Amino acid sequence: MRDRAMPISRRGFAALAAAGALGGVARPVIAQGAPLRVGLMLPFSGTFAALGENIAAAIELHIQERGGRFGGRQLQLIRLDDESNPANAVQNVNRLVGRDRAEVLIGTVHSGVVMALVQVSRERGIPLIIPNAGNQAATGELCAPSIFRSSFSNWQPAYGMGLWLSRNGVKRAAWVTWDYAAGNESGEGFRQGLAAGGAELVRELKLPFPETNFQPLLAQIPGLNLDAVGSFFAGGGAVQFVREYAAAGLKDRIPLCGSGFLTEGTLQGQGAAAEGIKTSLHYGDGIDTPKNRSFREAFKARTGRDADVYAVQGYDAAQMLAAGLDGVRGNLDAEREFSRAIRSARIDSPRGPFSLSASHNPIQNMWLREAKGGENKVIGIAAESLADPGTGCRMA
Ligand code: PHB
Repeated sequence: MRDRAMPISRRGFAALAAAGALGGVARPVIAQGAPLRVGLMLPFSGTFAALGENIAAAIELHIQERGGRFGGRQLQLIRLDDESNPANAVQNVNRLVGRDRAEVLIGTVHSGVVMALVQVSRERGIPLIIPNAGNQAATGELCAPSIFRSSFSNWQPAYGMGLWLSRNGVKRAAWVTWDYAAGNESGEGFRQGLAAGGAELVRELKLPFPETNFQPLLAQIPGLNLDAVGSFFAGGGAVQFVREYAAAGLKDRIPLCGSGFLTEGTLQGQGAAAEGIKTSLHYGDGIDTPKNRSFREAFKARTGRDADVYAVQGYDAAQMLAAGLDGVRGNLDAEREFSRAIRSARIDSPRGPFSLSASHNPIQNMWLREAKGGENKVIGIAAESLADPGTGCRMA
């Protein structure tokens, strides 16, 4: 049996295991019926704070809907603010699994920070459900039976956008983003989507996360002879970028588009600057199904806010955890059965029902949306039932 509570080091678990540090240490005996401790590692401050808040609120919503229990076990949520800061990620994960003895992890938003969670899950077998971060490796070369995603891979929305543009008259596009895993991997997805329809990604313009000094990048755009500008920004950074793109006089000359995070949960702050922006994402406003309508009503009643993709991903992370715990009647020691129960679940998501690929990433439509009057209206499908290729994933 593994000791899931031992601290991890920056050297990584492989070194610990090689040194025999993990051998023979028993996992603490959990009294039958004791609440299951769920570590919730999310940003509650910084540029992604609103994203973390919506994910957490929707997880709580589903727990409440199920009377506080999954698989017969009561749940205890332990919140930790990771500030979207990769420098503190290992320390933060150690707090959750060491000090707080979390038995299940849900987190996080940022593609760099999530790597510390992926590491602890791989090495300790602690179940991890990722409710946002799109890092390719988590469902690619670092995939594991204990790791699941309720969200997307960075490739998916950007590939959908590039594909749709290339089939709709665009020949030359640029990609503007933060220079970190999410921005770069979605840039690669955009390039591949464009290429699939014979279009070209002619330039990538980047600045460090979470900086917002966009002017030097915007100044380069008019000289590039572009048909479209694609972009990955999110949260507070996205609000500012969209406003500055319009203020620079570019909005009516070169259409701005992107992974749908660019206009998700941000439209109020972006105002008229967002009007007409087309994006691709696995969620959109006005998906007219009973499930989506009831979810949006319940989320609004609980928080006073409108649901967005982050709320949906949090809700579905909770649904996936419920599927796993129901499958083992709350007994997490049944690792294989727990994993199999999630892997084979069909999740009744507000985005539309989905199941997981072999590498544990949702197979899902990439909706085409257009920002109109404060909503991201679904106006078509950019890519149907799109599965991340899961490159490099060899499930143990
Ligand atoms: C990421 O870092 O993976 C990320 C962050 C915010 C988003 C989407 C992806 O909205």
